Amino acid sequence: MNQIMQEIMEKTVLVFGVTGRQGGAAAVYLQKAGWKVRGVSRNPEKDKAKKMVAAGIEMVKGNLDDPETVKDAFSGVHGVFSVQNPWITGLKKEVEHGRRIVDLASDAGVKHLVYASAGTGDKSTGVPHFNTKAEIEESVKASGIPFTILRSASFMELMRDKDFLPPLVMWNVMPKIIGDEFPVIWISAHDVGAVTASVFNNPGEFAGKELQLAADKQSVKECREIYTSLYGNPPKRIPAPAWLFKLMQKDLYKMFLWMLQYKEPESIIEDTRKIYPEALTVEKW
Ligand SMILES: NC(=O)c1ccc[n+]([C@@H]2O[C@H](COP(=O)([O-])OP(=O)(O)OC[C@H]3O[C@@H](n4cnc5c(N)ncnc54)[C@H](OP(=O)(O)O)[C@@H]3O)[C@@H](O)[C@H]2O)c1
Repeated sequence: MNQIMQEIMEKTVLVFGVTGRQGGAAAVYLQKAGWKVRGVSRNPEKDKAKKMVAAGIEMVKGNLDDPETVKDAFSGVHGVFSVQNPWITGLKKEVEHGRRIVDLASDAGVKHLVYASAGTGDKSTGVPHFNTKAEIEESVKASGIPFTILRSASFMELMRDKDFLPPLVMWNVMPKIIGDEFPVIWISAHDVGAVTASVFNNPGEFAGKELQLAADKQSVKECREIYTSLYGNPPKRIPAPAWLFKLMQKDLYKMFLWMLQYKEPESIIEDTRKIYPEALTVEKW
């Protein structure tokens, strides 16, 4: 066993969102790489949490609303993976939770903080759930903790994960707003977990970096064609007018408009594959 591997095996990474998409995948890939993984869940009795425990992940019951319930989880950890979901908590709490993790990590002397962000890292987008992430990024950068920020493109999971209401959002409203043929950059949330493990494994390369992540570029039309060729039928659509979506989901509506004018770095896919060569295309995913 080489020295790096031996050092990793003695160290723990604390994973927030461990029962979710990015955190769950991060936990699995970190464990595969030899890290000890401790996760936080508000409900360790739920199936996903129990499965993780069965796979050898230590689970701590905690709620970021109350710092006292998560404080001890930081004890002795080398690294922390931080993710929030404003669609669960609301925007105000997203920022509160993100900053709470930074403060607790700082108090605990954490050596590497990986923050799962999105957007551009500044408040120029006008997209509320990107602004909140920009605020958290500011705290991460000001903390003095060696950090890595991951800014993911649209998740491929939007196409099939029920949480994202694909028949309404991905297959109906999104193309109405951005156009059926507009090229969208994609990454699987699962692959963000793999990238996270690479980042913790190589702090010399990734500490202090802000990484834009995408593994494919396909329009909604192309995604629909891929879906249809794989499943034999086009994806189900729930027809709803874009104006109604604009009224009910202002934040996502603004994000779709922002997508139309955002220019991602030209090498984003190539750069993501340098970190995780197996990152899936839409078709493979
Ligand atoms: N959709 C996209 O295309 C896309 C693209 C890029 C970035 N993003 C961003 O990705 C983020 C969501 O990531 P995800 O999809 O991996 O999240 P997710 O699967 O919804 O997981 C959210 C996690 O947060 C935990 N959680 C919720 N409230 C908590 C609290 N009060 N205390 C402690 N833990 C709490 C939940 O754990 P328990 O329930 O077990 O407590 C759950 O594991 C969002 O910020 C979103 O903006 C999305």
